Amino acid sequence: MFHFFDVIDSTNTEASRLLEAAQTSGKGFLSCHKDVVWALSQTAGRGRLGRSFFSPESGVYFSLIFCPEKTSEDFDPAIYTAVASVAVCRSLKKLYNKDSTIKWVNDVYVNEKKVCGILTEGKIDTEKNIIGALVIGIGINIYTPKEKFPEEIRNRAGSVLESEKERNNVTPEDLVREIVSCACKIYENSELLESTMQEYKDRSNLIGKKITVTPVIEQNEGRYEALVKDITQRARLVVQLEDGSIRELSSGEVSLHM
Ligand code: BTN
Repeated sequence: MFHFFDVIDSTNTEASRLLEAAQTSGKGFLSCHKDVVWALSQTAGRGRLGRSFFSPESGVYFSLIFCPEKTSEDFDPAIYTAVASVAVCRSLKKLYNKDSTIKWVNDVYVNEKKVCGILTEGKIDTEKNIIGALVIGIGINIYTPKEKFPEEIRNRAGSVLESEKERNNVTPEDLVREIVSCACKIYENSELLESTMQEYKDRSNLIGKKITVTPVIEQNEGRYEALVKDITQRARLVVQLEDGSIRELSSGEVSLHM
């Protein structure tokens, strides 16, 4: 089911409210499986690591609720996020003929500017005590003139399109439906996962680059420089430190600067 809003606080927050209501009413999370909450702007868009996400009317913002079949031991939300980023890239190509890359873990870039961010949140099913649903939130700047971006992100953020004319009669709803159908097809057909994760790696704009890693979880060390060597099938970033040692990073652990 699609839930549309012109304006909302955050589609991820609304999706959480739907899940809570489903749990309280006894219908359960599965009654919301594959529901999509989407909006043309958000007043309190949320990003990773507690940041806010700039969400003006010139974009599209949506959250897909997906209830994985596997138990919480078997599945990894990072893979769902990685698959979603590939679905965004494929859809931008199909609908707008735009090439895009992925900055690990989940930012989509067009013309070397970030045009899309993804925030995946797990919801605990309190009866079964497992992650019973994922809320996969995707925000895309379709066309926002540069001067409209807040100054602090103006150098990094961009839009999919270079002008309104390039919309080519593609509506925001077309884009939402295309991404949702592409992602769900992969989520529901595990034999598609291997090639999708290969594409995730092939689209990476980090492999071979020097980056600065900032651990976000309290650790004994601060930020450090590293060379990106690889991305694994489980969406982990393999980096080499200056002393030659190798580390595998998972999405929650770090923020990166190219
Ligand atoms: C990031 O770049 O840090 C992730 C941004 C995720 C933004 C999307 S917009 C739709 C959904 N609703 C939110 O509040 N956040 C996600």
